[in-house]
Amino acid sequence: MKKYLSILIAVIVLGILAALALIYVPFKPTPANEAFPTDWKAEPGRGEAVMRVGDCMACHTAKGGEPMAGSRGIESPMGTIWASNITPDKETGIGNWTMDQFRAAMVDGIGGHGQQLYPAMPYENYRYMTESDLRALFDYLQTEVKPVKNEVAATSLSFPFNMRFGIRAWNWLALSGESQFKPMAGDDQQIRGQYLTEGAGHCAACHSPRTSYMAQDGTRLSDKSFLSGGMVDDWTAPALRGKDARIQKWSTEEVAAYMATGRNAHAVANGEMASVVEHSLQHMSDSDLKAMAVFLKTMDGQAVEAVPAKLATPGPRSMAPLPADEAGQATAALLKSASPDMPLGARLYLDNCAACHFTSGKGSPEIFPELQGNSMVLGKDASPLVALILNGTASLKTDRRPMDLVMQGYADRLTDSEVAALATFLRKGWGNQASEVSESQVSKVRKHVQAAAAPERAN
Ligand code: HEC
Ligand code: HEC
Ligand code: HEC
Repeated sequence: MKKYLSILIAVIVLGILAALALIYVPFKPTPANEAFPTDWKAEPGRGEAVMRVGDCMACHTAKGGEPMAGSRGIESPMGTIWASNITPDKETGIGNWTMDQFRAAMVDGIGGHGQQLYPAMPYENYRYMTESDLRALFDYLQTEVKPVKNEVAATSLSFPFNMRFGIRAWNWLALSGESQFKPMAGDDQQIRGQYLTEGAGHCAACHSPRTSYMAQDGTRLSDKSFLSGGMVDDWTAPALRGKDARIQKWSTEEVAAYMATGRNAHAVANGEMASVVEHSLQHMSDSDLKAMAVFLKTMDGQAVEAVPAKLATPGPRSMAPLPADEAGQATAALLKSASPDMPLGARLYLDNCAACHFTSGKGSPEIFPELQGNSMVLGKDASPLVALILNGTASLKTDRRPMDLVMQGYADRLTDSEVAALATFLRKGWGNQASEVSESQVSKVRKHVQAAAAPERAN
């Protein structure tokens, strides 16, 4: 109900602003934020690197389709938004575009026909990119991507969201402040990390909360809610900032390793984050990954930690289980006792999960993720955790960690009340502190999971 109300209010506000916008103010594209000689050319490889950080491929490539040829559907509560063809095809792509048109799309959210783009295209974030990165990216798209003729289906959302001019008014609310990147008080590495995180990396698109009118609440460091946690589809994108943020307890090297490989000693990337690592982060240079990790770990004034020159070097991985730490002692002892009067959740864990995640709940670094302090286990909304127990998961394969690990799903073996008891046990074991999970919540998730036909890995 609250959601409907906020949408309703948003629509009314939008309507009023849209009317004013259309009547009084002509559209002015944002000018380039750096001056350039006309013959400027980016150094080889730069455009592709920018594309990787921006993750254009993930949204602009259909499943099994040609790179960047569009027709991938982005689901929204108002209907499906079809991503455009951004190959250099002259008829159906951006082959005839000028740099000014491209900048308008990336910075102001204006498409090739002068139409307002839906913010499913993350121009809320790309607007902080420098002109040189935009030029390098445009050049890459025009000269290194294969032109593909593909007419993308028109997006037709339900009324009133089908009226694209309303987005003009929405932009006034959503795009707070000027698009110029504002460097923090820090060294070059921190500032580079800030730039990548706020701009092309568009981390806030998922890791910042949303306002009542569905804009990103916090797109840059100076915004209070920036990276304080959000929801995407049915996944929690954990807070990356603040005292409860799990990654603030990881070393900077561990944060960088998670981005480079999708795993570290504490967690693995699932759901939407697996896709971000697969298509974007793992392809970035070590120095940029380190810069982002350093920024994430120092954005509220913490000291910079040293990070080794090479990240996540290959080498033998240890399968040794880690012992329980102090907070985990009592739970580990309970599980080890294997007593017949153990509570149901603990018994189910011992029977089904302990073989891999161990009685310590610490798993085994980079192989079986730690469940103690794990953001997915502790999520405010337990649905992603429940879905994972029901569905199972398969490891994300990255260049540096071509793992092939599977966790089976438990949908056929455990009842709703058993899954609820197990999930509650995880959320309270080893010093974890999160709310209980109810049987009815599990049955809701089970229905949802069945409807989505249980993909192997949810991305
Ligand atoms: C999260 C998904 C997402 C990502 C990431 C993304 N886009 Fe988009 N983009 C879209 C969608 C959806 C549209 C169509 C929006 C509409 O129809 O209003 C779009 C539209 C565009 C357009 C306008 C095309 C036209 O014909 O008007 C351009 C140009 C574009 N994107 C470039 C890029 C580039 C370059 C990147 C990478 C830096 C990128 N996009 C990353 C989702 C995305
Ligand atoms: C499309 C949505 C999306 C985008 C964009 C995104 N993330 Fe994530 N991220 C998630 C989700 C969902 C999770 C939780 C994954 C899980 O539970 O396994 C996550 C998890 C993480 C984690 C681990 C947090 C923890 O507590 O375990 C880190 C670190 C992270 N993201 C960093 C980033 C950075 C840096 C960026 C920008 C380059 C980014 N993410 C962009 C959705 C996203
Ligand atoms: C055969 C070994 C195995 C068993 C048994 C197993 N898991 Fe897992 N589990 C894994 C692996 C491997 C992953 C990580 C997959 C990946 O790399 O994405 C994982 C991931 C997870 C995650 C996600 C953690 C994160 O950081 O995103 C949770 C939660 C989890 N398991 C809970 C359980 C529970 C609860 C049980 C018992 C019902 C269980 N597992 C049984 C191997 C196992």
